[in-house]
Amino acid sequence: MTDNNRLGPRIVVALDYANADQALVLADRLDPDACRVKVGKELFTRAGPNLVRRLVEQGFGVFLDLKFHDIPNTVAAACKAAADLGVWMVNIHTSGGRRMMEAAREALPADGNSPLLIGVTVLTSLDDRELQEVGFRDGAVNSVRRLASLANDCGLDGVVCSPQEVSVLRGNLGGDFLLVTPGIRPAASGADDQRRVMTPAEAVSAGSSYLVIGRPITRAESPLQALRGIQEEIDAVL
Ligand code: C5P
Repeated sequence: MTDNNRLGPRIVVALDYANADQALVLADRLDPDACRVKVGKELFTRAGPNLVRRLVEQGFGVFLDLKFHDIPNTVAAACKAAADLGVWMVNIHTSGGRRMMEAAREALPADGNSPLLIGVTVLTSLDDRELQEVGFRDGAVNSVRRLASLANDCGLDGVVCSPQEVSVLRGNLGGDFLLVTPGIRPAASGADDQRRVMTPAEAVSAGSSYLVIGRPITRAESPLQALRGIQEEIDAVL
């Protein structure tokens, strides 16, 4: 895995837009030296690899948030396709199992040129009843812990988790394992539809590696100013 990929901006701006034009307008108002950007399922399904290529050409580290989950061969090939697009980070579902994660790891050799490979553990939208229904019988927290350890074991670079899970996972998995956290709100912002939030400073102090932040930046009058304000908040505790 590459040190270059692990350095640089900790803020990942979620480009939650329905078309390429809106995403590119926002990207033009940001600075690739100050943030990375995240392209998720809606935007990718509408705007496709061409948008990702444009963002990469503009100098942005792109987190391709497609949460691959399929048989090992298919996930490995999808990860390779993401690497060919030049993205900085890609993610897969850890519940796809050991062989799937190992196949993805093999497709993205840890040689310094591949995207960071990140696991999704338990979707935060699932409550305990729904988790029981799909067979996760030992509750969200234990399931997150177990799947994050398995991801570490399979050589993944880190996992996506809620800020509330950061200190436990950091304690279990050590300092190098990347923890990527959405659910971040600067002190002055509203929570929107997020339930349990932490400020950027709290999340970084707890051990978060990268902060995925959408609306507090994308809906700000000046996105760059909002980004810089959050960066200052982080710098103050680093
Ligand atoms: O606008 P906001 O900061 O809430 O956006 C957070 C981003 O992180 C969105 O793209 C959302 O889909 C994503 N995300 C999340 N919670 C998770 C996983 C992903 O908010 N558990």
